[in-house]
Amino acid sequence: MYKAVLIGSAMAISTITLTIPPSMATAETMIKETGVESRNEAWAQHFPLQYESWKLTGESERIDDMLIKKPQLAVLWAGYGFSKDYNAPRGHLYAIQDNVNTLRTGAPVGPISGPMPTACWSCKSPDVPRMMQKDGELEFFTGKWAKYGSEIVNPIGCADCHDSQTSELTLSRPFLKKGLEASGVDLEKITSDDMRSLTCAQCHVEYYFEKTPWTDKEGNKKIAVVVTLPWAKGMSAEAMEEYYDEINFKDWTHTISKAPMLKAQHPGYELYTTGIHAKSGVSCADCHMPNMSKDGKEYSDHNLKSPMDDIGNICLGCHDQTEEEFRSVVENKLQRKEQLMEIAMDNLAKAHLEAGKAWELGATELEMEDILKDIRHGQWRWDYAIASHASFFHAPEETLRLLAVSNEIAQTARLKLVKVLAKYGAVDYMAPDFSSKEKAQGLGGVPLTKLIAEKKQFKTTLLQEWNKQAVKNGNLNMDSRKGMSDKSSYSN
Ligand code: HEC
Ligand code: HEC
Ligand code: HEC
Ligand code: HEC
Repeated sequence: MYKAVLIGSAMAISTITLTIPPSMATAETMIKETGVESRNEAWAQHFPLQYESWKLTGESERIDDMLIKKPQLAVLWAGYGFSKDYNAPRGHLYAIQDNVNTLRTGAPVGPISGPMPTACWSCKSPDVPRMMQKDGELEFFTGKWAKYGSEIVNPIGCADCHDSQTSELTLSRPFLKKGLEASGVDLEKITSDDMRSLTCAQCHVEYYFEKTPWTDKEGNKKIAVVVTLPWAKGMSAEAMEEYYDEINFKDWTHTISKAPMLKAQHPGYELYTTGIHAKSGVSCADCHMPNMSKDGKEYSDHNLKSPMDDIGNICLGCHDQTEEEFRSVVENKLQRKEQLMEIAMDNLAKAHLEAGKAWELGATELEMEDILKDIRHGQWRWDYAIASHASFFHAPEETLRLLAVSNEIAQTARLKLVKVLAKYGAVDYMAPDFSSKEKAQGLGGVPLTKLIAEKKQFKTTLLQEWNKQAVKNGNLNMDSRKGMSDKSSYSN
């Protein structure tokens, strides 16, 4: 235990205490002799307390349709999957259900149809490391999402973070190891304390899909779409942007502005590293997995959720403030982010629409090139700053800096657009109304009714076959889904 003095914050100077967590793993326990045990139930008999608390991630079942809450998003992402359907994150237990239900994964009718690659399963299930071991990494990343519909069936769980042979913490995702190496980390030097954040960094990070040609054992030429972390130049928004610009990478071309866009996924770990908690050695597990005890046995809470439900147990273990003080500190941080975020989203959405108008009136590539680059760079900073939801708390300074710069770049684009629009006789052009999900999706051309009908059809047909097959193979126990609701943005 050591004490630290809290200075340089909005709060009064106070004393905080850092507690060293209870010894990490219990005695080494073998869950399975070889391979990955992806069925979470199979771990329960060895670790009932951890299992029971993990199951509670199913309590966060509410769907929060972000496109209703922030309709600007459907303009910002026009032409990209996220403009179809985007909800706030829920507990880990829902990872498979949400991935299957989202309109982004479409309505495949067989193993080679549908809009998404296999890579879209990467952060949803311990069946991912199981299949990577079975098929090999490059085969895993080859083909359509539907290819693994009957294999990837268990939600994020034990084998995502624990080794099935020893039950010790492990990194089951090769892309994190490669990303760390690219950023200069020596994997041999990772400590067990680092693992209390790095297990989360397997998924709560920025990534992109890198097209990788390869040849299988039979000599067939294939193209894998490999999850890759863009960390070779560093983890800041600027370093990643330089990386993407240098390889001319774009996630999609915006349907309205035609800008070559980047989509930030959820650079939660990267942003966290810039914050005061990370710099003080406070890990993800310190706040999201507090120590609990039941019947005299200590364990780490595996119900990963917002720590705000348990301030007393989590924050006040290190800090002296009262719960009310902490609630208002966090609320203030959120409000500051919200204000800058709203302005940035408004400016970016208008920049897209004004650029769309400029094209319509006959603007040239040459006139637009610079403007589109501004839109790309402005939106990248906004998205990087907010995509991981809690950055306002994990890394408030960096979040606000990025939003301010994003805003500046978006406004620069709009100033340039005023000139172009004036040249083509549209001095008074005002971007159309995008104040509801319906209006914003209309501007981006999302055929929502059709997408929903197709998805519902898929859920009563192919999805049922997938589940039957998974049960038959012994990889899915339908009882593990008992009591779970099946909510989505289009059916409650
Ligand atoms: C997202 C990653 C993650 C998942 C999923 C996960 N764990 Fe853990 N687990 C951890 C971390 C991190 C620790 C270390 C916590 C600490 O040191 O405070 C831990 C610690 C443990 C320990 C050591 C004793 C303790 O409670 O600290 C056991 C046993 C354990 N987990 C079992 C399980 C089981 C069983 C499951 C599945 C039901 C599971 N874990 C799912 C990350 C995970
Ligand atoms: C295998 C990938 C993976 C790992 C490992 C992982 N997460 Fe997640 N996490 C996700 C996904 C995906 C979601 C969103 C699930 C959904 O909405 O269906 C999520 C959601 C969350 C949420 C939101 C829960 C809610 O109720 O709103 C929290 C908090 C969270 N994760 C914390 C953590 C922490 C802390 C760790 C490390 C101990 C961790 N995660 C490790 C993939 C992962
Ligand atoms: C000092 C404590 C602390 C640390 C360390 C911390 N978090 Fe958080 N986390 C929070 C708080 C507080 C929130 C905001 C909760 C809210 O607004 O309800 C949060 C929210 C989240 C959310 C969003 C939940 C949601 O539903 O929007 C995720 C995901 C998350 N944290 C993951 C992580 C990961 C991954 C790490 C490590 C890289 C981490 N956290 C480190 C305190 C912490
Ligand atoms: C394991 C110990 C630990 C835990 C748990 C923890 N903190 Fe901290 N907190 C620290 C340390 C250490 C600092 C930095 C002190 C310094 O050097 O100024 C800090 C700084 C802060 C600051 C001031 C910096 C800023 O970002 O404004 C706030 C606010 C804060 N913590 C809130 C929280 C809240 C809320 C929680 C619970 C969700 C929490 N902390 C959980 C150790 C902890």
